[in-house]
Amino acid sequence: MKGKPVSESRTTMTEVVLPNDANIHGNILGGKVMHLMDLAGVISAFRHCRMPVVTVSVDSLCFLHPIKVGQLVLLEAVVTRAFTTSMEVEVQVFSEDPLSGKRMKTSAAFLTFVGLDMNGKPTRVPPLIPRTQEDKRRYRAALRRRRQRLSEARAVGTKDV
Ligand SMILES: CC(C)(COP(=O)(O)OP(=O)(O)OC[C@H]1O[C@@H](n2cnc3c(N)ncnc32)[C@H](O)[C@@H]1OP(=O)(O)O)[C@@H](O)C(=O)NCCC(=O)NCCS
Repeated sequence: MKGKPVSESRTTMTEVVLPNDANIHGNILGGKVMHLMDLAGVISAFRHCRMPVVTVSVDSLCFLHPIKVGQLVLLEAVVTRAFTTSMEVEVQVFSEDPLSGKRMKTSAAFLTFVGLDMNGKPTRVPPLIPRTQEDKRRYRAALRRRRQRLSEARAVGTKDV
């Protein structure tokens, strides 16, 4: 199967935080951020493999700073590595003040997606071709994280391989 460069999967999304998406402090709900991260991740995975995908895991999710109602939410997603039927996607979230333009990194996570065939069964996805130094660094780190996440999944009994 032909490999794909990292650029194929690079995805950016921008949203504005509306009052309906906020908690009583006037900040975006964590669940809303997670929803947006899943969407950015799934689009990135789709662009890499061009087949139906499902989310199988989310790890290293952090919320570093709140994002206030009226601010912009920017999401950046990229496939870091494709394995056999699964792909790891790094999703980063930034806030942007619409008046000053000031940006801050507010969240990050690694999501794993599995490519599915027409019968909904896991199927092989194209390999990722890392070209730049940064692509290669992320590619190497993705293998370490995969070992860790599968070992944790086995430990809690959600992966019985
Ligand atoms: C994802 C799913 C199809 C995998 O099924 P499965 O029987 O575990 O299939 P496999 O054992 O062949 O694993 C498929 C891939 O998932 C990976 N995987 C399985 N569990 C995992 C976990 N907890 N974390 C990370 N990767 C995992 C495997 O390593 C494998 O990847 P590889 O082929 O690149 O090595 C199945 O678990 C599922 O349908 N889950 C529900 C998905 C869902 O509903 N998501 C939310 C809505 S999109």
